[in-house]
Amino acid sequence: MKAIASDRYGSAENLALRDVDVPRIGAGEVLVEVHAAGVDPGVWIMMTGRPLAVRLASGIRRPRNPVLGRAVAGVVSAVGDGVTRFRPGDEVYGTAESGTFAQFTRARERRLARMPANLTFDQAAAVPISAVTALKAVKDARVRAGQRVLVIGAGGGVGSYAVQLVKQRGALPTGVCGPSKVSLVRSLGAVEVIDYSQREIDSSGVHHHAIIDTAGNRPLSLLRRVITPDGVIALVGGGHAKGAVLGGFGRQMAAPLISPFGRARLAGVTAREHHADLDELTRLLEAGEITPVVGRTYELAEAADAMRYLEEGHATGKIIVSVRR
Ligand SMILES: NC(=O)c1ccc[n+]([C@@H]2O[C@H](COP(=O)([O-])OP(=O)(O)OC[C@H]3O[C@@H](n4cnc5c(N)ncnc54)[C@H](OP(=O)(O)O)[C@@H]3O)[C@@H](O)[C@H]2O)c1
Repeated sequence: MKAIASDRYGSAENLALRDVDVPRIGAGEVLVEVHAAGVDPGVWIMMTGRPLAVRLASGIRRPRNPVLGRAVAGVVSAVGDGVTRFRPGDEVYGTAESGTFAQFTRARERRLARMPANLTFDQAAAVPISAVTALKAVKDARVRAGQRVLVIGAGGGVGSYAVQLVKQRGALPTGVCGPSKVSLVRSLGAVEVIDYSQREIDSSGVHHHAIIDTAGNRPLSLLRRVITPDGVIALVGGGHAKGAVLGGFGRQMAAPLISPFGRARLAGVTAREHHADLDELTRLLEAGEITPVVGRTYELAEAADAMRYLEEGHATGKIIVSVRR
């Protein structure tokens, strides 16, 4: 099968379209024919091997799995022993184990869900990592109806869902984004939009009940200036290019330790990959309460360009690699 692969950590220049073996599935696993794959900062981390801490899981000197990509939408091709929820022909989405920038991928049954009936494969591949993370952030931030919630990075992969999920809970999202995304963020339901090229988040004197920070590039002292004393600051992203060893994870891991020393509660958000969250999102997607924002779509052979665009750090909504057009 065709796949985008690299045998070493580094830049997008290393990525090449290659012929590799179709993955073999074991018990509890599903072989999925990939129609579309999601692109997110986690893929960049696997491509570069940075921050270095991730190599403990992905391979110290070189990636154990040369094929990139985790989020997938596609069609079940075969199922392993013990798989009960799917059979060949089912349309599914979720996260995979063997790389999704490929014609086939291997996924654990528990990390897959039935695909929402109203989405295309490209739209569905935009959900598994980013929307699941946004859902966890909204829960960790304890967002309730009527509250003011600041979403930083509101026009990106996670932020575009976070704005919609805050609104869906009856709360009032304020989105923070660059100038090119102001109208998009407003269309997603933000009651106010802060264009960070014009003013900072503390310029209006408003205090928010919760902050969901996906950009991760403002000091905690600034975030604490704009939160109510009993509010929650949900730390999602930490600027994936920063810090050689822990990168953005450092701040999230430290959150429980530093939380008691200062205004508001800090919550380091860690999304889990389980079909229960996807099932919850499927209901919201099919009810039209949230919609994926697919900003750019690339063909499989153009995956390196998709990674370069992601690396610029200003993606609009989700970036998708459309494998089967
Ligand atoms: N904790 C977890 O489990 C988890 C899971 C998934 C992702 N993440 C992390 O979450 C972060 C965001 O992921 P993503 O998929 O949403 O990335 P993304 O699609 O690249 O979006 C990032 C967004 O931040 C905006 N941005 C950049 N600088 C900004 C600034 N100074 N202020 C406000 N917004 C700014 C960018 O566009 P504009 O500048 O044009 O507005 C872009 O839309 C990453 O660090 C990722 O590693 C964490």
